[in-house]
Amino acid sequence: MYEKIEQSTAFLKQIFGGRTPDVALVLGSGLGPLADELENQIAVPFGKIPHFRCSTAPDHAGRLVLGQLAGKTVLCMQGRLHGYEGYAPEEVAYPIWVMQALGVKAVILTNAAGGINMDFQAGEFMVFEDHINMTGKSPLTGENDARVGDRFPDMCHVYPKFLRDLADRAAQECGIRLHHGVYVGVNGPQYETAAEIRMFRTLGGDAVGMSTVFESIAASYCKLPVLGISMITNMAAGITGNALSDEEVKQMANTRGQTFRVLMRKVIELL
Ligand code: HPA
Repeated sequence: MYEKIEQSTAFLKQIFGGRTPDVALVLGSGLGPLADELENQIAVPFGKIPHFRCSTAPDHAGRLVLGQLAGKTVLCMQGRLHGYEGYAPEEVAYPIWVMQALGVKAVILTNAAGGINMDFQAGEFMVFEDHINMTGKSPLTGENDARVGDRFPDMCHVYPKFLRDLADRAAQECGIRLHHGVYVGVNGPQYETAAEIRMFRTLGGDAVGMSTVFESIAASYCKLPVLGISMITNMAAGITGNALSDEEVKQMANTRGQTFRVLMRKVIELL
């Protein structure tokens, strides 16, 4: 694994020509256009990068974009891989290890999620206090390479307070309401049953989604601080009595995408 990471990193370093990213940003639904706002950008399709897999999800461009945003050098993953597409957890997580090797000091993981917490409303945002991995899988399964991380990595400090506080400050300055909560990561691709959502609430979950936890685990493993932020695109199954649809999720992601991008720009400015 270490050799593969080195090869991907060497390839990207050459393309980036000595520019080192300060922070990496994984763009979930509604945030993709943020990569287009980067100045002096260099974009590389996943398919061109050694050992990267391509995203098959609709509306996920599948490229790495390096550029300037709010005074920082930012590396955006425009489109991500999901377990439900058939990728192994370590394939989903792999770009995180390359980002760390490229020198980023933190990674911001964003996504669309269903609101479990009754105090949330569709269109609002939530910063991760923590997560619950309900996929039953881990990107760290298999032989460990101590050059990347520990065999049994700690998971108590995945989302450090200084980044959560920074997100709060950014939200406050932008006048955007930002909840805090626990993200429940599931496999999908089916949405949850109402009973599953009741169970997740009982377990302490506040929002649910089909991404992010493998990337968080991978980042924590290589000691990369994570800021996780969800856009609550819908209330989770069984809460409103309406059926869930991808259409509803996409529509809200588009409607609130601009606000999400304003928030992320401010977060990066304050970093
Ligand atoms: N469940 C799972 N994933 C999601 C949801 C949801 O309700 N909304 C957006 N992504």
